[in-house]
Amino acid sequence: MEALLTRRSIRKYKQGDIPDSLIKDVLTAAMSAPSAGNQQDWQFVVIRDRQTLNRITEIHKSSQMLNDAIAAVLVCGDLAAERYRGFWVQDCSAAMENLLLAIHASGFASVWLGVYPRQERMDGLRKLLGIPEQVVPFAIAPVGIPNEKKGRENRYTESKIHHDRW
Ligand SMILES: Cc1cc2nc3c(=O)[nH]c(=O)nc-3n(C[C@H](O)[C@H](O)[C@H](O)COP(=O)(O)O)c2cc1C
Repeated sequence: MEALLTRRSIRKYKQGDIPDSLIKDVLTAAMSAPSAGNQQDWQFVVIRDRQTLNRITEIHKSSQMLNDAIAAVLVCGDLAAERYRGFWVQDCSAAMENLLLAIHASGFASVWLGVYPRQERMDGLRKLLGIPEQVVPFAIAPVGIPNEKKGRENRYTESKIHHDRW
C-alpha cells in the first residue's frame, strides 16, 4: 500500500547512475503482471543511449524529462504473441504499472509516457528503434534520479463507487 499510495509522476531528474541490477529488477516486476490467459504478449526496449533518449523527445512532445533520464523502458505489445484478441492493451498496461511501481519502490523516479494510440508517436518510435511491424510501441517509462518531491494524494472518491448495482 505504501508504494501504491506514494507513487507519483516525477518529471525532474538529477545526474547520477543507477545500479546494474535495477533494470533487471524492474523488468522482472513488469513481467510478473497478469495477462489474458497468461499470454505475456509484451516486449521491452531498454534504452540507455544518450542520443536515442534525446531523440525520443523530438517524437514525443511531452517527454522532455528524457533529456535528464538515465535510461528508459519502452513497453511494446507483441501482436504475434496475442492469443486473446484485443487484450494486449490491458496486458501492457498491467506491465507498465508494475514497472512504475518497481522503479518508485527502488527509490528512483518515473512517469507514464503514453505512446499508443498516438499514430505519430508509434510511427516515430518504430522507425527510431527498428521495431518490427507486429510489435506496437505502447508506453515509455523513464528511469531517473528524483529531483522533485511530491506527496501522496488521496483520490478516494465515494461517488465513483456503486454497491451491488449502479
Ligand atoms: C495513459 C497515460 C499517458 C500519460 N502520458 C503522459 C505523457 O505523455 N507525459 C507526461 O508527462 N505524463 C503522462 N502521464 C502521466 C499523468 O499525467 C499522471 O499519471 C497523472 O497526472 C496523475 O499524476 P500522478 O502520476 O503523479 O499520480 C500519462 C499517464 C497515463 C496513465
